[in-house]
Amino acid sequence: MGVRRILVLKLLLFLFSYGLTDQTSRERYEFDDNKYAKSQQNNSCKLNACEVLNYLSKQLLTVKAFIDSDFERWLKVSSADTFISPINVAMVNRVRQIENRLRSIEQPVWRLVSASQNEWNRCTSGICRCSPETKSFTCWNANFVSLPVSQVIPMNMESIDLSRNQFSTFHKDTFRGLTLLKELDLSNNILNFIPANLFQDLDSLLQLRLQNNNLENLDSVTFWKLRNLNLIDVSKNLLSDLPTNLFGHSQRLIVINLSQNKILHFSPELLRDQLVLEDLDLSRNEILELKSGCLKNLKSLKMIDFSFNFISSISDDFFSDLKNLRSLILHNNRISSVSKELLKNLKSLITLDLSTNRISKIDENAFSDLKKLRELLLGQNNLSDIPDGLFNNVNSLISLNLFSNNFTTIESNDFQGLINLEKLMLNNNILKNMEDDAFTPLGNLEKLRIDSNKLQYLQNGAFSSLKKLVAVKLDKNPWHCDCKVLYLARWIREFSGKLWDGQVAVCRGPGSLGGHEVGLLRYDDLCEGQWASMLSLSPRLPLRKHRIMTHMNYTTYFDLYLKHIYTTTIRSD
Ligand SMILES: *[C@@H]1O[C@H](CO)[C@@H](O)[C@H](O)[C@H]1NC(C)=O
Ligand SMILES: *[C@@H]1O[C@H](CO)[C@@H](O)[C@H](O)[C@H]1NC(C)=O
Ligand SMILES: *[C@@H]1O[C@H](CO)[C@@H](O)[C@H](O)[C@H]1NC(C)=O
Ligand SMILES: *[C@@H]1O[C@H](CO)[C@@H](O)[C@H](O)[C@H]1NC(C)=O
Ligand SMILES: *[C@@H]1O[C@H](CO)[C@@H](O)[C@H](O)[C@H]1NC(C)=O
Repeated sequence: MGVRRILVLKLLLFLFSYGLTDQTSRERYEFDDNKYAKSQQNNSCKLNACEVLNYLSKQLLTVKAFIDSDFERWLKVSSADTFISPINVAMVNRVRQIENRLRSIEQPVWRLVSASQNEWNRCTSGICRCSPETKSFTCWNANFVSLPVSQVIPMNMESIDLSRNQFSTFHKDTFRGLTLLKELDLSNNILNFIPANLFQDLDSLLQLRLQNNNLENLDSVTFWKLRNLNLIDVSKNLLSDLPTNLFGHSQRLIVINLSQNKILHFSPELLRDQLVLEDLDLSRNEILELKSGCLKNLKSLKMIDFSFNFISSISDDFFSDLKNLRSLILHNNRISSVSKELLKNLKSLITLDLSTNRISKIDENAFSDLKKLRELLLGQNNLSDIPDGLFNNVNSLISLNLFSNNFTTIESNDFQGLINLEKLMLNNNILKNMEDDAFTPLGNLEKLRIDSNKLQYLQNGAFSSLKKLVAVKLDKNPWHCDCKVLYLARWIREFSGKLWDGQVAVCRGPGSLGGHEVGLLRYDDLCEGQWASMLSLSPRLPLRKHRIMTHMNYTTYFDLYLKHIYTTTIRSD
C-alpha cells in the first residue's frame, strides 16, 4: 500500500514540475487550479511560490504520515520522526526543486533594449552604474534581492557585475539576447538555483563568476552554450555531485575553479578534452581518490591545486601527461607514499607541495625527472630517512622544507645534488645527529632552520662550507655545553649577526651551565672542567687570565696548562 501511495505521490509531483517547465512567459506563473481544487473556486487564480510551497508541504506531511505509519508497521521502526527513508529524502528534494523553479519563474526581468545611444543614455540614468564607454553594467554591493525591473540593458552589453547582492535565483530569461556579453559576475550572492537555460544565449561569454553562493546542484546543460568560456569560478558553493559532462561543450576553458565545495568524486569524464586548460583548482573538497585518466591529455595544465582534500590514493599515471605543469599542490591530504612513477615526466614542475600528508616512504627515483623544481615542500609528514640519491637530479632546487617530520639523523650524502639550495628547513624534527659533510653540497645555502630538534652538538666545521649563510635558527635544542659544543659557540660568536631573528641557542646542561647562551661561553667555560677531569685534576684551574685567547685549541691550552702547573709547583717549592 505504502509503495503505491508513494508512486501516486511521485506522479503528482512529476505532473507539477512538468507543468512548470512548460511555462515560458515572463509573467508570474499561473497555476492550473484543477490541481488545487480544494482551495480554489475559479479557474484564474494566481499563486506565488510561497503559497504553493505551503500547500505542497501540508499535503506532503499528510502523505508522509501515512507512509511513515505504513513503514513503521512494516519495518517495526519505533520512532517515525527520526526515520529518514530514501523516499522521504527524494520527496523533500523534489519539493525543493519545484520550489526553486517557482522562485526563478517569479523573478522579475529587466528590459533588453536596442544598442542605440539613446538606450545607453537610459541605461546610465538607471539605478545601477552603466558605462557606455566600456559597455559595462555594475550593480555591485547594492543589497538587491531581485533584479531592478526599471533598469534597461542595451543588447550590446559586454560586462555585467551583480556580485555582492542577495540574489537567490534568476529568471531564466535574465540574460536572454545578450549575445555579446563577455563577462558575467554573479559571485557573492546567495544563489541556490540556476535555471538550466539561464546562460543559453551567452555565446560570447569569456568569464563567468559564480563563486561564494549556495549552489548545491548544477544541471548538466547549464554551461553547454558557453562555447567560448575561458574562466569559470564556482568556488565556495555546496556542489557535491558534478554532472560528468558539465564542461563538455566549453572547450576553451583556461581556468576552472571548483575550490571549496563538497566534491567527493573527481570523474575521469569531467575534464575530458580540456586541451587548453591551464589552471585547475579543486582544493578544499572531499576527494578521496585520484583515479587514472582524469587529467589525460591535458598537456596545457600549468597549475593544479588539490590541497585540503582527503586523498589517500593516487593512480601512478595520474599526472603522467602533464609535461607543462609548473605547480602541483597536494598539501593537506592523506598521501602515505610517493612512488617512482607518480611524478615521472613532470619536467616543467617548479613547485611541488606535498606537505601535511602522511608520507613515510619516497622512492629514491621519485624526483629524478624534476629537473626544474625550485620549491619542494615536504613538511609535516612522517619521513625518517632521505633515500640515497633522492636529490641527485634536483639541481635547480632553491627551497627545501622538511620541517615536522621524523628525522633523527642527517646523513652525509642526504643533500647530494642540492647545489643551488638557498633555503633548508629541518626544524621540528627529532634530529640528534648530523654526519660530517652533511651540509657540504650546500654552498649556496642562505637560510637554515635546525631549531626545535634534539641536537646537543654540531660536529666540528659543520657550517664551514655554508659560505653564503645569512640566517640560521638554532634555538630549542638541548645544546650540551661542554667542550664538544665549542665549535658552535665560536661560530655563534663570530657570526652572531646571522642568528635568525636574533634567536639565541641556550645550553640545556651540564650542571650550572644550563640556561646559559651558548654563544657567550668561552673555551675555558666549556672545556676547562673537562680537561681537569680528564687529567683527574680538580678543582677548576686558575686560567682566567688567559681568557683573551678565545681561539685556543686543545694543544695550546694544554701547553699553557702544563706551564701553569710547572710555575705554581716551582713557586710552592
Ligand atoms: C477567483 O480567483 C480570484 C483570485 O484567487 C479571487 O480573487 C476571486 O474571488 C475568485 N472568484 C470567485 C468567483 O471565486
Ligand atoms: C579559487 O577560488 C578560491 C576561493 O574563491 C580562491 O581563494 C582561489 O585563489 C581561486 N583559485 C584560483 C586558481 O583562481
Ligand atoms: C610513521 O611511520 C612509521 C613507520 O615508518 C609508522 O610506524 C607510523 O605509524 C607512522 N605514523 C603516522 C602518524 O603515520
Ligand atoms: C617516528 O619514528 C619512530 C621510530 O623511529 C616511531 O616510533 C614514531 O611513531 C614516529 N613518529 C611519528 C609521529 O610517526
Ligand atoms: C693550535 O694552535 C697553535 C697556535 O695557534 C698552532 O700552531 C697549532 O698548529 C694548532 N694545533 C692544531 C691541532 O690545530
